[in-house]
Amino acid sequence: MLRKLLIGTALASGLAFAAHAEDVKEVQMLHWWTSGGEAAALNVLKQDLAKEGYAWKDVPVAGGGGDAAMTALKAMVAAGNYPTASQMLGYTVLDYAAAGVMGDLTETAKKEGWDKSVPAALQKFSVYDGKWVAAPVNVHSVNWLWINKAVMDKIGGTEPKTFDDFVALLDKAKAAGVVPLALGGQNWQEATMFDSVVLSTGGPEFYKKAMNDLDDASLKSDTMKKSFDNLAKLVTYVDPNFSGRDWNLATAMVIKGDALVQVMGDWAKGEFHAANKTPGTDFLCYRFPGTDGSVIYNSDMFGMFNVPDDRKAAQVALATATLSKSFQSAFNVVKGSVPARTDVPDTDFDACGKKGIADLKKANEGGTLFGSLAQGYGAPPAVANAYKDVVSKFVHGQIKTSDEAVTELVKAIDDAK
Ligand code: GAL
Repeated sequence: MLRKLLIGTALASGLAFAAHAEDVKEVQMLHWWTSGGEAAALNVLKQDLAKEGYAWKDVPVAGGGGDAAMTALKAMVAAGNYPTASQMLGYTVLDYAAAGVMGDLTETAKKEGWDKSVPAALQKFSVYDGKWVAAPVNVHSVNWLWINKAVMDKIGGTEPKTFDDFVALLDKAKAAGVVPLALGGQNWQEATMFDSVVLSTGGPEFYKKAMNDLDDASLKSDTMKKSFDNLAKLVTYVDPNFSGRDWNLATAMVIKGDALVQVMGDWAKGEFHAANKTPGTDFLCYRFPGTDGSVIYNSDMFGMFNVPDDRKAAQVALATATLSKSFQSAFNVVKGSVPARTDVPDTDFDACGKKGIADLKKANEGGTLFGSLAQGYGAPPAVANAYKDVVSKFVHGQIKTSDEAVTELVKAIDDAK
C-alpha cells in the first residue's frame, strides 16, 4: 500500500528541485522527540550541525512511540515533499526502502566504516538491498523499571527479581499510600510494558518465538494467556487517571515521588537526566523482574530520503555527524539510550548507561537480544499495530479475559500478516 501511494512522487520531487545548483545548507528533520529529555538530546545534534554551518529545519510531531509522526511522514512523502531525514523504527525503514523513496548512503558508510562499527542487529534495518538507507542513532531497551529511590527507601523495598517479588513490592507502595505503578494509558505504552511481561512470563526463547517469529502455537499458548494474566495484575496498581497520559508525565510522577515505579524504555532516563537526577541517589534502574540477561531493543534510525542533489551534501553531513563516536557518546548520555556503535567508550555514561551498554553486549553475544514488538522491531508495522490494539483493549477492559485476549491477538496478527 505504501508503495502504491508513493510511486511517482520520487520522480516528481527530483525534477522539482533539479534546477538548483548550489547546495542547500539545511537539514530538515521529522521526529517525535518533544519531551524535555528528548529535546535536550536533539539539541546535541542541532549544535553539532550548526558548527558545520547547517541550519536546522525542525518538523516535530508530538506523540511518544511515533504513530502520529509516521502518519505525518506518509503524507509528506506522498506529496513528494521529502525531509532530509526522519526518525523511524525498524520495519518502517524497510517499508519505505521497498517503496523506493530512500536515498543511498553507502559511500559515506564505506568511508566511515559503519559495516564494522554498527551491530548486525541494526544493520538488518538500516541496510536494504545492499545499500545503507538509514543512520542508526542509538539503541534503546524497553525491559527496565524506573524507581524513585526515596519512595523505595520509605517502603523498605529491595530489587524485585521475579514477577511475584514485583507484585509484593507494588503492594508495599499501595499500603504506604503511593501510586504503585505510573502508567500512561496509550496503546504503545501498554504494549511496550507488555513486551517485558511476555519475556518475564515465558523466558527468552518464548519471547523470540511469539514476538519475533510470530509462531502460531506460541501466540496461542497458555504461556501467552498467563502473560495477559500478569498484565491484568499490573494494571490493578495504576491510578484512576492513567488513560491517555503521556509517557513523560508518567515518568514525572516517579521523579516527583508521586509514584514508585514506571515500566518504560530507557528514554525515561532522559527525563531523569533533564531533571538533574542521579542513579543510585535519586532513582534506581533495574531490569524488569525475570528478564535479567535479555535485552528487548529498539533503535531510533534517521531514515535518509532520496532528496534532490542540492540537498544531498546536508544529508551526508547529518549521517556522518550521527554516527561519529563523539556524538554517539554525547547524545546517548542525554537521551538515556546507548550507542549504536560497538566501539564507543562508556566513560561518560552514568551507572544505568554503563549497565545498558554492558547488557547489550552480553545479550548480543549470548543470543538474547530481541526486537521489541511494540517498538517496531518485532514485525512489520501492520502487525505491531494489531498487537498494540489488542493489548490496549485488554488493559481498558474492552477485551475482558486473558482467553479472549489470546484469541483476539492471534486473529489480529493473522489478519495483519
Ligand atoms: C520511542 C523512541 C524513543 C522515544 C520514545 C518516546 O519510540 O524510540 O526515542 O522517543 O519513543 O517518545
